[in-house]
Amino acid sequence: MQKILIKGGRVVNDDCSQVADVYVEDGVVKAVGPNLQAPAQPAGIQVIDASDKLVLPGGIDPHTHMQFPFMGTQSKDDFYQGTKAALAGGTTMIIDFAVPQKGCSLLEAYEKWRSWADPKVCCDYALHVAVTWWSDKVKEEMKILTQEKGVNSFKMFMAYKGVYMVGDVELHSAFSQCKQIGAIAQVHAENGDLIAESTKKILSLGITGPEGHELCRPEEVEAEATLRAITIANSVNCPLYVVHVMSKSAAKVIADARRQGKVVFGEPIAAGLGTDGTHYWHKEWSHAAAHILSPPLRPDPSTPDFLMNLLANDDLSVTGTDNCTFDICQKALGKDDFTKIPNGVNGVEDRMSILWEKGVHSGKMDENRFVAVASTNAAKIFNLYPKKGRIAVGSDADIVIWDPKATRKISAKTHHHAIDFNIFEGMVCHGVPVVTISRGKVVYQSGLFNVAPGEGRYISREPFSEYVYKRIRQRDEVCQPVPVKRAPYAGKVISTALK
Ligand code: URP
Ligand code: ZN
Ligand code: ZN
Ligand code: ZN
Repeated sequence: MQKILIKGGRVVNDDCSQVADVYVEDGVVKAVGPNLQAPAQPAGIQVIDASDKLVLPGGIDPHTHMQFPFMGTQSKDDFYQGTKAALAGGTTMIIDFAVPQKGCSLLEAYEKWRSWADPKVCCDYALHVAVTWWSDKVKEEMKILTQEKGVNSFKMFMAYKGVYMVGDVELHSAFSQCKQIGAIAQVHAENGDLIAESTKKILSLGITGPEGHELCRPEEVEAEATLRAITIANSVNCPLYVVHVMSKSAAKVIADARRQGKVVFGEPIAAGLGTDGTHYWHKEWSHAAAHILSPPLRPDPSTPDFLMNLLANDDLSVTGTDNCTFDICQKALGKDDFTKIPNGVNGVEDRMSILWEKGVHSGKMDENRFVAVASTNAAKIFNLYPKKGRIAVGSDADIVIWDPKATRKISAKTHHHAIDFNIFEGMVCHGVPVVTISRGKVVYQSGLFNVAPGEGRYISREPFSEYVYKRIRQRDEVCQPVPVKRAPYAGKVISTALK
């Protein structure tokens, strides 16, 4: 096990910053404080000078799809290449999604994803599991996953009709079970029925190109589903996490609900914060198709700024990426019909730089809020905190040394994804990860990797995350309706018997 002493950096957590040294041994932070001395036998200790740099908890990307079998193909970044790209960007943990087909076992999906990820991951990871249909068996498997497999979050799709979509009654059942077992319900919020109807209309107008994708799922379709999911979750007092919040109107729905005290969290993603949906109208088909994901990027170019403002002031809580990459040949499955273009874009490598550039460099948030939305809040919501998401004695040594003044230009020519396109191409970002430490080992430094497939670990997550469930419990106690005490009605009652 490596011993590392990080000297002279500014250690930033979500609640405070201090100039301090950080000493790491056996994969764990052993000391944080000013002027730490190397132990008596300094042999084998790697000393890293972090002066003028920030020392941050490694990023947590709570939304990725590595090697996801989807829309007739499989996403290109596998668990090896995808987690390497994560590390190059300062992210030291991902949470991916195990997605069973309708009618199939959730446990089997979980085991399948484990068998794909375990031999390949270069950083720690966990799994959300999707609920794509409903039965007593699904209900039981959710419980087993929570109690025995370290899963405390389940995603329900309100879109992808006929594939993954579930209806309101199934949502109600799934949310009720999440509440029962102490899990967090997640939703992909888009009205799948409306999308299916609009798709017929758009195709009948002769629109077959990528712009059709946005035209048949405009932002009110996202906002409506978001409100419906919040309403259903609130009716059973289940905590709700809305993944990939892409529009102003959906974000406003979440902000309103939070101001009403509802236990709901919104996750904008790097794509939605860093670029916009005007690309769908680009004249070059492959350029437009490369930006397709669901919900789509929005044509209103002020959307990214708006989402960032809400993220800065806690109306939105976390940033993910939905990293689900397809190369141009895969996207070309839909060259004559936008409904067949595989949905997904990159993000896991560039998320933290985009967030720094558009969030911190722009003056919308400070370094502590950056840490909160890049790492700590995900750790708290998904019950990984304080082992993840914090630099403190006893925390996992997942650390990134961040140069806030340096800049880098994002390009497919230099990125570490398995695809030949980057939706942030040419963007210059302040905020560069110079050293990434995962599990107490320097795995990425100055552009070079020192990590082997399988070095990351699966991280089990306990149910009933305090950060989420303290309020849920209290609301259960005080928000129960009670009957009005009154004397029984003693008057006449009409007869309803039919003559
Ligand atoms: O377009 C997307 N988002 N692809 C991945 C699947 C999903 O809906 O998260
Ligand atoms: Zn989704
Ligand atoms: Zn473009
Ligand atoms: Zn996704």
